[in-house]
Amino acid sequence: MVSRAKGEKSEGGCEASFLAGETSGLTNLNPSLFDRALSFPYNEPIMKWVYIEDIGQHPEQDIEIRGWVYNKRSSGKVRFLLVRDGTGIVQATFFSAAKDDPLFRQFDALTQESSVIVRGTVREEKRAPGGYELNVKGLETLQIAQDYPISLKEHSTPFLMEHRHLWLRSRKQHAVLQVRAEVIKAIRDFFDGRGFRLMDTPILTPSACEGTTTLFETQYFDQKAYLSQSGQLYNEATAAAFGKVYCFGPTFRAERSKTRRHLIEFWMVEPEVAFAKLEDAIELGTDLVLFIIERVLAKRRGDLEDLERDVRPLESISRPFPRLTYDEIVPDLQKRGSKMAYGDDFGAPEETLIAEISPNPVCITHFPAKIKAFYMQPDAVRPDLVLGVDFMAPESFGEIIGGGQRIHDLSLLEHRLKEHNLPREAYEWYLDLRRFGAFPHSGFGLGIERTVAWMCGLKHIRETIPFPRLLYRIYP
Ligand code: 4AD
Ligand code: MG
Repeated sequence: MVSRAKGEKSEGGCEASFLAGETSGLTNLNPSLFDRALSFPYNEPIMKWVYIEDIGQHPEQDIEIRGWVYNKRSSGKVRFLLVRDGTGIVQATFFSAAKDDPLFRQFDALTQESSVIVRGTVREEKRAPGGYELNVKGLETLQIAQDYPISLKEHSTPFLMEHRHLWLRSRKQHAVLQVRAEVIKAIRDFFDGRGFRLMDTPILTPSACEGTTTLFETQYFDQKAYLSQSGQLYNEATAAAFGKVYCFGPTFRAERSKTRRHLIEFWMVEPEVAFAKLEDAIELGTDLVLFIIERVLAKRRGDLEDLERDVRPLESISRPFPRLTYDEIVPDLQKRGSKMAYGDDFGAPEETLIAEISPNPVCITHFPAKIKAFYMQPDAVRPDLVLGVDFMAPESFGEIIGGGQRIHDLSLLEHRLKEHNLPREAYEWYLDLRRFGAFPHSGFGLGIERTVAWMCGLKHIRETIPFPRLLYRIYP
């Protein structure tokens, strides 16, 4: 850090003028706004602040919970407040002999989602959710919430999506995002535990990875740039530097399709392994999927219960995952009613038919080169087919993994760039990887939201990310 003499201007002049107490835009605000902020009453914790998930560690102790009113009810001389603090929900019980107890009056004024501090003694209570409740000694109301738009009754999906910033507080949404966080943690543990190096690949890129039709174009000063569709191409470079790598980040597809499986912005984990072949990528993907399922079942069973997810289909998954080539599966799908032609990609009806094959994910390999990306390695015997793999989730949850073996040969890759009408200048660095120590290599991408939808048993992917970006939605 650069130290500055007193009064010396910082680069933007901002810090210095703030220190000197000079006037800024801030002073134009109504002073009562500041007063209100300052009168927030809980600067001094009176009792130990405990999160609801840890309440069981404090039996018979006086503690305080800071949270929001989830629900309340009264029964004679007892009043019950359900308080949530993000880590759980606890029942706070108010006892009183007197009807006009000030604590009761305060309780009665509380509305759904009012912010509160509840102080009391932790009591074991077998019948209470979580096994503990709070016998209330004091209540501080931080704010009486205005009429909360989301009640416990049913709302339409467009209404809920419009209020996504509030909807997140609901029990099921909370459970879905807990599962999401667990899936992400499991993925990191899986790769870190196997000696993969995390590489952060760029989001602003000069070139396409997954075809030009879904590129998000943006301006990069006086040149065009695109939001990344995949970190793969860059990871082929980092794999040559580190052997086995993975990237994990947001990816973008300007897909004009409004399906229950597509987001415009989604998160993908992408391992890339130098010297690995298609077979190795399939093994790695299988291990990863099994690891995620095991972790979610071990750690988030309660959330899956809240979501009414039947966990038996998840529990029954085991290796080996069945494998079929594109040539094998298409006639089978056609026989079973699919209208797809040879050379088409799978649609939703095919995903359902594929799911009927096995209770395990199904791996489909050897696709026609025409329907896959430019970088895919052709099969040695059937060069019209490429060494790609798609993992199709059971129960019709669709494609969760796409990947395969990459072209390692310089002249073949040059040829493919031409065939796909891709501007060679933008890929010179990528061609370098084939000039300086070319190596067979493979990898894949696993879509986080589709995996979470599958774990949670959600038909639509939109609830698997805090703020989904959909074809016609960028608010909130
Ligand atoms: O099959 P995709 O397009 O493969 C790639 O991007 C490769 N470059 C990955 C690699 O080999 N490193 O996408 C991979 C996965 C899909 O199987 C799916 O799970 C998810 O990403 N995905 C989407 N998820 C939500 N919304 C979308 N629009 C998605 N497109 C792909
Ligand atoms: Mg794919």
